[in-house]
Amino acid sequence: MSRNTIQTDSLKAHKTRLTDTAIAALFQADPERFQRFSTSCGELLLDYSKNYIDEQALVALTDLAQAQSLRDKTEAMFRGDIINNTEQRAVLHTALRNGGAELDPETAALINSTRQRMLALAGDLETGNLKGYTGKTIDTVVNIGVGGSDLGPAMAVDALAKYHSSKTRFLFVSNIDPVHISRALPQCNPETTLFIICSKTFTTLETLANAQAARAWFLQQTGDEQAIAKHFLAVSTNLAAAADFGIPESNLFPMWDWVGGRYSLWSAIGLSIALAIGPEQFEAFLEGGKAMDEHFRQTPFRHNMPVIMALLGVWHSDFFNAQSQALLCYDQNLSLFPAYLQQLDMESNGKSVRFSGDSVDYATGAILWGGVGTNTQHSFHQLLHQGTHFVPVDFIVGAQSTDPVADQQMSLYSNCLAQSQALMQGRSEASLIEEMLAQGKSKEEAAFLARHRHVPGNKPSNTLVYPVLTPYVLGQLIALYEHKIFAQSIIWDINAFDQWGVELGKQLSKKITAKLAGEQGAADEDGSTQGLIDFFKQNQ
Ligand code: F6P
Repeated sequence: MSRNTIQTDSLKAHKTRLTDTAIAALFQADPERFQRFSTSCGELLLDYSKNYIDEQALVALTDLAQAQSLRDKTEAMFRGDIINNTEQRAVLHTALRNGGAELDPETAALINSTRQRMLALAGDLETGNLKGYTGKTIDTVVNIGVGGSDLGPAMAVDALAKYHSSKTRFLFVSNIDPVHISRALPQCNPETTLFIICSKTFTTLETLANAQAARAWFLQQTGDEQAIAKHFLAVSTNLAAAADFGIPESNLFPMWDWVGGRYSLWSAIGLSIALAIGPEQFEAFLEGGKAMDEHFRQTPFRHNMPVIMALLGVWHSDFFNAQSQALLCYDQNLSLFPAYLQQLDMESNGKSVRFSGDSVDYATGAILWGGVGTNTQHSFHQLLHQGTHFVPVDFIVGAQSTDPVADQQMSLYSNCLAQSQALMQGRSEASLIEEMLAQGKSKEEAAFLARHRHVPGNKPSNTLVYPVLTPYVLGQLIALYEHKIFAQSIIWDINAFDQWGVELGKQLSKKITAKLAGEQGAADEDGSTQGLIDFFKQNQ
């Protein structure tokens, strides 16, 4: 596969044709444009009409997906084929949402028994029956993990605050920076705190260091090794290492190598989510994911939400040279969603070789960034509206608030729509000059200011809307982006499920740590790194 396989002549011609007009003009030409270029699944509606797209271009884009056999490859994933070809692994996070219904009975039984244990624990927390070693009710849960063992659970626990089934406090400790654990522990009472050590591999430096610190603190406070059984749980594929750490067998929750770290919040890595929202809502969360799975597998590409978002992403990266993609959540509940999605998307599709090992000669995964509106309007939207970069945007907003106050939700919603409209419509110099002349400004001043006030427009965006954020909606939203990323990886012919790039830094940090600790080692550092090692030593 080469650049030409993606940048087909047909698509290039569509781009030239479409960009000859303004996006807003496409609405004037077609009163049905919103209906034609929006699609829904369960509680989610995707409006993608504010893009440089029309029927012919969309069909040509779906051809890309057909040419890469996206449908067959999707089925291969759901079936459990070894699609992660560098680690020889299946990719089956979807089986966690349907209880392994299509897998062998043994695997399905493991999935379901683990889920039942999670739900039982969540039920105990909900009813106040989860007790610490002195018989007091657990009131604080500390999740220790990093990357996929932190970002997803932290995001979902925060996003679903309205649905928490008890008054339990949830803290997330991820960073090797000692400030993180040092600030968390003083907030905890050892008699009423439950620590969940989440690590797929149970070898991750950050997590092991923070888990050791938590364990040392706990033993120092309680002086009772036996008490650990009531206060420490672990989730891992490496149950032997977790047991060696001192977690009793009954407190170990398994996961499997066919669940990628960044796709693992549906597994026991999501235990904190189940504990936060309770068994019933956790099942609704899984149901939301499952509804998106069915939509993704069954809906023709032309109306398939993840496929359309994937194609638009490819369209923007490979035809419009978009270097990045902004995610603007007009829902305070989703304030951690952009950070979560950064790992999901960028660790998955930040690749430059194809499945075969050959280099790609086209752009892959976008640089994802974002935040919560309306705050972002007062921060970086200026660059979106008048900067030199072409940044497609995904807007996300609910029709209702989980926490209504007066008519604030209406203002939130209208601001979201106003931003996508402003990005698309822009404001012409001519209309600005006319307005300023009418206000009595001189011709020269009006012309000068119009140059600065002019907003070019024609910036594309998608808008995802839902009635109100619920566990079900969040499940749908996460699965939507998971499948969008998967569909893009297939079109780009890259493996979305490995992450070799993060390994080198881990290896080098071990060598540097030894030198910081005073070991001599080989004098093989570059001058910069050696100078910075010396600075550290001089400043202890
Ligand atoms: O950063 C690399 C990574 O391997 C992620 O893919 C993963 O989510 C994270 O580290 C944590 O890994 P683990 O769950 O094994 O501790």
